[in-house]
Amino acid sequence: MTQETLTIKDNSTGKEAEFSLLKGTVGTPVIDVSALHKKMGLFTYDPGFVSTASCKSAITYIDGENGILLYRGYPIDQLAEKCSFLEVAYLLMNGELANDAEQAEFEHEIGQHAMLHEAMRSFIDGFHYDAHPMAMMVGIVGSLSAFYHSELNMDDPEHRRISAMRMLAKMPVIAAACHRHSIGFPFVYPRADLSYCENFMNMMFSLPSQKYIDKDNYIDPVAVKALNLLFILHADHEQNASTSTVRLASSTGANPYACIAAGIGALWGPAHGGANEAVLSMLEEIGTVDRIPEFINKAKDRNDPFRLMGFGHRVYKNFDPRATIIRKTCHDVLEHISGNDPLFDLALALEEYALKDEYFVEKKLYPNVDFYSGIIYKALNIPVDMFTVMFTIARTSGWVSHWLELMAEPGQRIGRPRQIYTGKGRRDL
Ligand code: ACO
Repeated sequence: MTQETLTIKDNSTGKEAEFSLLKGTVGTPVIDVSALHKKMGLFTYDPGFVSTASCKSAITYIDGENGILLYRGYPIDQLAEKCSFLEVAYLLMNGELANDAEQAEFEHEIGQHAMLHEAMRSFIDGFHYDAHPMAMMVGIVGSLSAFYHSELNMDDPEHRRISAMRMLAKMPVIAAACHRHSIGFPFVYPRADLSYCENFMNMMFSLPSQKYIDKDNYIDPVAVKALNLLFILHADHEQNASTSTVRLASSTGANPYACIAAGIGALWGPAHGGANEAVLSMLEEIGTVDRIPEFINKAKDRNDPFRLMGFGHRVYKNFDPRATIIRKTCHDVLEHISGNDPLFDLALALEEYALKDEYFVEKKLYPNVDFYSGIIYKALNIPVDMFTVMFTIARTSGWVSHWLELMAEPGQRIGRPRQIYTGKGRRDL
């Protein structure tokens, strides 16, 4: 990081001070205002963190203007084409791609940590059958520290690594268990001989009478490829709302399972990970192509809270590179698995209409990754209320990477923003 300075002058008091300008490897320079209050008696105000860098991180880089997304320096399209999700997870967590032996060891360990403590089954059974799976995910992941007391010395790097591996390994198992519970089906145990994505599909869909993976171990390669791709695209996205939540919770020294549960809660919202579920609900509400203009007008109406779900992004202002990759896969999957889904035709017509509309063009509102991910999940027979859970499985790799990075940082401090107080001034009873 090179360093220059920037002078800030407060015209009301005449106070003036110099602040360092920090530069990362690439990207927008950042003014280090950490001493602003000490030097000038001022705080900064930035609701929504639109102009605020909350940390230094070497994991993911996004250039929103140019639609660039890099994991540890590698472009997302190259990783999506050449890697498995667990190869990407290793990269995010460790900084480099593994060699063959390292990757085999990593995957072996994931297999070892996949099993859930049997006592967790009665915990899961305690949920009502119609509980939203995200509500179950928050509760079950948060409870992991109650089941796994060992390896919780967060000053020990090996304990931290094991905790991270546990979460990555158990997340698809918990997710599938939530689904099976909601439909009253028996849990399916994870299998160490299957890949991460195959295993998840098997745990979701296998029946005693009809194995999802048949006797020759055949599993639909298009479905597994699509799932692998979606997991890679959702693996990390620098300081998004849920990752920032994980970091903030971690800065207090809370146990990692509680921190990841906090991230799951943040991901659930429709402005974030809940968007893929919201896209499907929106498409179903629109129903037919002829009703698109009516809904576009609703989205443009300032007095109407309706927004076009799956459109817009805080960072990407030209296009979301993940949406470009996923759009192609969406075609492949639909052709291969479910024929011609009318919802996909509707989605394409909506996309075309919005991209030509002056409001969307002017505000640079493009389809984001979740515009397409829900449609693919639907084609893979994943129930709609499980869409955000799918995102959770993938994003766990990013969350644990950020958690590992933060925990290894020397002199790390508790996150504690300030405020502008707008309540009553002091008054007496
Ligand atoms: N439909 C209609 N108008 C929109 C949309 C939309 N989807 N998104 C933004 N706008 C408009 C806003 O009304 C606002 O208009 P104004 O300037 O006239 O007030 C302007 O565009 C800027 O919007 P903001 O809300 O300020 O943008 P912000 O960066 O805060 O929000 C967000 C980004 C949350 C993604 C927003 O675009 C949105 O709500 N999109 C729909 C939900 C969605 O798809 N979320 C998934 C995000 S990707 C992910 O989490 C993987």
